[in-house]
Amino acid sequence: MKLIEVQNYDEMSKLAAEIIIEQVQTKTNSVLGLATGGTPVGMYQYLMKDFTQNKTSYEQVITLNLDEYIGLEKDNPQSYSYFMKEQLFNHINIPENQTYLPSAKSVHDEEAGRNYEKLIETVGGIDMQILGIGENGHIGFNEPGTSFSSTTGIVKLADSTREANARYFTKMEDVPTHAISMGISTIMKSRQIVLLVSGVKKAPILNQLFQTDVNENLPASILKKHPDVTVIADQEALSILKEKKGSVFS
Ligand code: GLP
Repeated sequence: MKLIEVQNYDEMSKLAAEIIIEQVQTKTNSVLGLATGGTPVGMYQYLMKDFTQNKTSYEQVITLNLDEYIGLEKDNPQSYSYFMKEQLFNHINIPENQTYLPSAKSVHDEEAGRNYEKLIETVGGIDMQILGIGENGHIGFNEPGTSFSSTTGIVKLADSTREANARYFTKMEDVPTHAISMGISTIMKSRQIVLLVSGVKKAPILNQLFQTDVNENLPASILKKHPDVTVIADQEALSILKEKKGSVFS
């Protein structure tokens, strides 16, 4: 993993957007793997700004999101489908039928994961996957303990994840218990991965990520085995790691 240190959230967002813009300009029909959550919001804003100012075109781009809650309609403001429209798709020139999110009708909908895997294959695989990281080390919604060989499918959310995401809902009971998520092996097939880490809340997990060996209790640790991962982390997220002056800084 290559680590790029930035000052703050804004710098992280700007750099991540620049990486995507370069990807899309170099390969106009890029397949982008996109993420939700608070972390990529600033990056999406920079993409929109660039679209307005420089007209970078997304006409041939295909996007595949990492995950979606089960049980929320697409027009529910808490759904990731709604999030992506609001935060990006409605503001750039990407045709709606080239934007995909996994979607499952129920927690028993096993077909949904298989279909998403087929779709990823059909479009030629993901060129660049953007990732955030959960406070417990999850990527997508692959919680600690998930097999590294997992493919896209239904996942049960950890209590800590539901609590972390409760801030977007009126009450805890409204936070879905399950989601459909790209699997870990699916994410690992992406040709390039950019992991964004910002804020003091992510400092403990970022420290663990760099200090511990690859193991299934820390899903993001598998990224160490991928040949092309760039981690962009800000000073708050790096605070524990730098305090310990771990091997990456020596
Ligand atoms: C969410 C998403 C992840 C995201 C992570 C961190 O639950 N499923 O894809 O990367 O948790 O979220 P945030 O960026 O809000 O900290």
